[in-house]
Amino acid sequence: MKDTEQKFSKTTIVLHWLVALAMISLIAVGTYMEQTETYALYPIHKSFGILIIIAVLLRVVWRMLNGWPKPVGAVKKVEQLAAKVVHWVLIIGTVLFPISGMMMSGAGGRGLYVFGVELLAKNTDPVTGKVAPLNETLAGLGYEMHGILMWVMIAAIALHIIGAYKHHLVYKDNTLKRMLGRG
Ligand code: HEM
Ligand code: HEM
Repeated sequence: MKDTEQKFSKTTIVLHWLVALAMISLIAVGTYMEQTETYALYPIHKSFGILIIIAVLLRVVWRMLNGWPKPVGAVKKVEQLAAKVVHWVLIIGTVLFPISGMMMSGAGGRGLYVFGVELLAKNTDPVTGKVAPLNETLAGLGYEMHGILMWVMIAAIALHIIGAYKHHLVYKDNTLKRMLGRG
């Protein structure tokens, strides 16, 4: 089923909330584990971070096939434009976050694991036995991207949530309801 002005398809709703929940949780866990140096959380963060790519890519394909949702009712042009920009930032951010994480860990020589299942082996220096980066530039770029994305995505998510509530509480329209499946 395609999305309509009244009702969103199950696919849109399930993918939106699955990716939204994962993003918010991974941003919270990522920030917490880095600030407090809780290394036990790293493999959990990375495993979920890698797995969520499946839902993220399905969602991108679904958006390309289905188009973007049409605004509900009469919304100011400038707000429509703001929503569009924020939606693009959010969807691109959901793709770049896991990719930059994998660049940081994979190219950094730490390997890629999903709950212990090896996707890319760790690279150790045969002499020192320490982790050796496969490509330092790529790993550094991944690290920088991951850090920048954190700020960009926190800002975009905040604007997005404010927008959703403005529709719900000020315009009192169907925008939030149709994403909750109660269109
Ligand atoms: C949707 C997916 C992801 C989100 C939203 C996310 C989010 C974050 C955030 C917000 C931080 C804290 C950054 C900071 O404080 O500067 C972080 C740290 C980190 N993330 Fe992710 N991440 C994701 C996926 C991944 C993946 C797939 C990997 C690796 C396979 C990964 C590896 C790391 C590592 C190693 C750190 C700590 C960096 C450090 O200690 O300096 N992340 N992540
Ligand atoms: C509590 C948090 C959230 C609420 C209340 C919320 C609410 C909504 C609503 C009501 C829409 C429909 C907009 C319309 O009809 O034009 C929407 C669309 C969208 N949301 Fe969220 N959202 C939340 C979190 C997130 C997060 C964390 C992300 C991504 C990181 C995200 C990404 C998107 C995108 C890309 C769209 C465009 C439509 C689509 O691709 O399905 N949202 N959101």
